Amino acid sequence: MKFYVTTPIYYVNDLPHIGHAYTSLAADVLARYYRMRGNHVMFLTGTDEHGQKVADAAAKRNLTSKEHADSMMENFHDLTLKLNLTNDGFIRTTDDEHKRIVQELMQRLWDKGEVERRSYSGWYCTPCERFWTEKDLQEGNCPECSRPVEQIEEDNYFFLMSKYAERLEQHIVDNPEFILPESRRNEVLGFLRSQPLQDLCISRPVKRLDWGVPLPFDKDYVTYVWFDALINYYSGAQYLAPEIFRLVARNLDENEDGGESLQLEGARNPSDVHGESHQLKGARGPWPADVHLIGKDILTTHAVYWITMLMALELPLPKMIFAHGWWTIAGAKMSKSLGNVVDPSKVVDKYGNDAFRFFLFREVPFGLDGDFSEEALVGRINTDLANDFGNLASRTLKMAENYFEGKVPSPGMALTDAEHDLKAVAEGLPHKVEDKLRVLKFQKAIEDIWRLLTRANKYLDDQAPWKLAKDPEQAERLATVMYNTLEALRILALHLHPIMPDATQKLWQALGLEGDLDTLDLFTNAVWGGLKPGTELNKLDNLFPRIDTKKKKDKKIKQEKKKVQPNNLDNIEKKKDDGLINIKDFAKVELKTAKVLEAERVEGSEKLIKLQVDSGEAGQPEQTRQIVAGIGKAYTPEELVGKIVVVVANLKPAKLMGVESQGMLLAATGDDGEPVILSPEKETAPGLRIK
Ligand code: MSP
Repeated sequence: MKFYVTTPIYYVNDLPHIGHAYTSLAADVLARYYRMRGNHVMFLTGTDEHGQKVADAAAKRNLTSKEHADSMMENFHDLTLKLNLTNDGFIRTTDDEHKRIVQELMQRLWDKGEVERRSYSGWYCTPCERFWTEKDLQEGNCPECSRPVEQIEEDNYFFLMSKYAERLEQHIVDNPEFILPESRRNEVLGFLRSQPLQDLCISRPVKRLDWGVPLPFDKDYVTYVWFDALINYYSGAQYLAPEIFRLVARNLDENEDGGESLQLEGARNPSDVHGESHQLKGARGPWPADVHLIGKDILTTHAVYWITMLMALELPLPKMIFAHGWWTIAGAKMSKSLGNVVDPSKVVDKYGNDAFRFFLFREVPFGLDGDFSEEALVGRINTDLANDFGNLASRTLKMAENYFEGKVPSPGMALTDAEHDLKAVAEGLPHKVEDKLRVLKFQKAIEDIWRLLTRANKYLDDQAPWKLAKDPEQAERLATVMYNTLEALRILALHLHPIMPDATQKLWQALGLEGDLDTLDLFTNAVWGGLKPGTELNKLDNLFPRIDTKKKKDKKIKQEKKKVQPNNLDNIEKKKDDGLINIKDFAKVELKTAKVLEAERVEGSEKLIKLQVDSGEAGQPEQTRQIVAGIGKAYTPEELVGKIVVVVANLKPAKLMGVESQGMLLAATGDDGEPVILSPEKETAPGLRIK
């Protein structure tokens, strides 16, 4: 099986922002996932370097268009490294090989009579590089960018797109997953049904714009930048395909029977369209694309121009075009003039690649617009990553170190419902994730994975290995509980790898497992029970250290005083001062149940009582936290011991009368003004999150 995924190629007239990073990261998650599913994968990204916009940007810098493109493409190329992308190729539309293939295809269209020369007069928008008809204009201006248009009359070449209107509509109707999400599919169908499809001008006279690929059949014209750019998906699949695709093509050449063992889907003769054969060199590579990832603004160029062009060329059509939503910043569009453009490199430097990746796909359903804020990102890091994921990994490994000398214990034979339950969730996961990722529901896939994570945390809390460890008769039970939790962590590392490649690889090594997760087969490895008893575990640094939001705020205030430049990440925070907090703010407060183990009065104080409470961290009673509470007038130390209370667990430590308090005990103020401690309504275990 093969999987070919593309991103749009990015214009080199500007710097990369989080919108570009978003598409590239989505492609990377898919590429990594499908590699782990045993596919031959091609992941292509790159830069769109021709056209008026780039020529204008170069002129502003007093550079030739090529010099400008050479320097600007570096920013996009560097971003692939920064984001740890596993792209197989980085295509530039100025590559000689790409230009050659553009010319080859243009010639083919011309020879087949799919292109016609016509005299044309129309309204032209230079920045958008598009002709408009009189009725398209809005108040005499370009309907897309609202800038003035000019009347132009000239001969040009037209792709006879109109004749494919019906076939295109039928293809979209017959293939419900061809354009996703559904709202975008409906948008394209609406477009096709609301007006007759026009032919498309695909040339620009050299006298007006010479920065493009010359038309092979008329040297006075260059190719319209979109036509040149769209062809990258096809040309890249020829000359940038990973070696494995070439091996397969060679193998097919040598064995007339097709070399079954290396047979790839779509790797035979590329064209079964109309049963005709097309002998393009190397065409038995990754083509057609399985997914073209794009932003919602470039849907028509892909779903209409590109697809009809492939129909005219009689090349197989891509399987899916997925148009994702846009990121806004505090509700506003990202723009240079607003100074709110977020540089993805800065986000990665500040918070790490894995956290950034996780945030983008966890926060917003792919396909919808979303709002980016540093606050929301930090919220996700502290709750989902530090509390849920990092904490499960570190407390489990720490307990295994303490109770089993850092080795995977051998589980006992007697299993309870709790183990069956955990195993069932883990066993259902591979197919659940597969179903979601097939239609690019990244957020839903993460939710499925989180169900196992939450279950594992609950399992640990319920089984309380720290209690079992105190009772020698429970040694076998302790081994079973620890084995099952470690095994859940292993399954989690496998499934989370495409989303968070670095943290999961670290966890994998900490679990004493070998190999590069990228190269492992997900389904075979995700079989429950893969962890071998006796395996040496390794130390694990905190995977996602909690971010101290207080310190960050202090720093931010200082920076605000210094009047930081726009573009600085700290400038993009939403400012809200209505006294209300949102659910994310609330989620930052880590409320937990805790058990009072010891209590004594603070010397010299009537009010303060010093408590040692077990709030479940790392599951170790000896690592209890100390809390000082002002409840001494209403309670005696003796009556407090054994009580289950509620504490704020992520409060910065503070000193009360010289005694450190690592959290706060929750209490109401009674009618008499004295504190009344809050306790769960039923007896519960310590360390449970209150949400
Ligand atoms: N060069 C063309 C694409 C040619 S593909 C054959 C182009 N380039 S672009 O650099 O302007 O945009 C690239 C992608 O970035 C588009 O998919 C666009 O939707 C996406 N985004 C631009 N701003 C964005 C956000 N604010 N949020 C998310 N994606 C956004 O168009």
